[in-house]
Amino acid sequence: MDLPIRARRNRKSAGVRALVRETLLCPGDFVLPLFLHDKEVDEAIESMPGCTRWSLEGLVKEAGEALALGISSVVLFPAIEEGLKTKGAEECYNSQGLVPRAIKALKVAHPELIVMTDIALDPYNEDGHDGLVENGEILNDETIAVLCQQAVCHAGAGADIVAPSDMMDGRVAALREALDEAGHEKISICSYTAKYASAFYGPFRGALGSAPKAGDKKTYQMDPANKREAVRELLLDEEEGADIVMVKPAGPYLDVISELRDHTTLPVAAYQVSGEYLMIKSASADGWLNEEAVMMESLMGIKRAGADIILTYFAKDAARILRAE
Ligand code: PBG
Repeated sequence: MDLPIRARRNRKSAGVRALVRETLLCPGDFVLPLFLHDKEVDEAIESMPGCTRWSLEGLVKEAGEALALGISSVVLFPAIEEGLKTKGAEECYNSQGLVPRAIKALKVAHPELIVMTDIALDPYNEDGHDGLVENGEILNDETIAVLCQQAVCHAGAGADIVAPSDMMDGRVAALREALDEAGHEKISICSYTAKYASAFYGPFRGALGSAPKAGDKKTYQMDPANKREAVRELLLDEEEGADIVMVKPAGPYLDVISELRDHTTLPVAAYQVSGEYLMIKSASADGWLNEEAVMMESLMGIKRAGADIILTYFAKDAARILRAE
């Protein structure tokens, strides 16, 4: 054939493929989500094979392993005892609570570790919603006042980044003001900018026992049908002072990641959530899929779509592979 242009020339060997590769993953891209509870023992999480609810001691050790693999950041998700859950979610700003104690323990053991915390009420709220509930309604402004106390509490304990995952309107500006007033102007805000009302969070809610007791999260989390609205949320978060913007889930929302990447100069994060993790884990368990290959491909897709930062339960496994390459 008379074919002067042959695209396959750029794929002819591993060396050439490496030379022309457009997207590179590295361990430093990852944030490892860690579950913790107020118990002495580590507990396997049934709904998320391979994940653990850590004791404080286990948590510190796990974070150390992540650091050694080149993962510089973790995000904390507490399983709170039922007895501490209230209508007002007051436990979320208890300075002696589980999360502040965990932040301190992590920072003592690993001063260089970036500790990110989740700002939302669902683990603490007896209703299981991210905000305060009154007559079935999720209150916006009243919730924000509590979120501000939560963020200041985490910052006081030594958190580096607070990550509001609640989707209340105006929370980024309010958090920024509350943090600054308390002298925490160095604490960053990683906003869950486009967090969708997704069924892919199921295994996570199982891990924390944090599923809503009634109703769903559709009056605050976004409609999976909407992309323009993600840009609207982005513009608001930028104006309100977010340092990092996030899309969640990641895999089914690659177009949204790409859209945010095109519309902002801020770093874009993406959260490969529990259901995405579980799909790969369970399809690989019987050998139907090659877990390592599919895991790496899913992460590459998220990075290629435009994510600078990836929150993933696969962080350690992926970092191990990348370091061996
Ligand atoms: C709640 C929160 C959720 C996740 C992170 N923070 C669940 C929810 O919104 O119901 C989900 C993470 C995952 O599924 O891996 N504030």
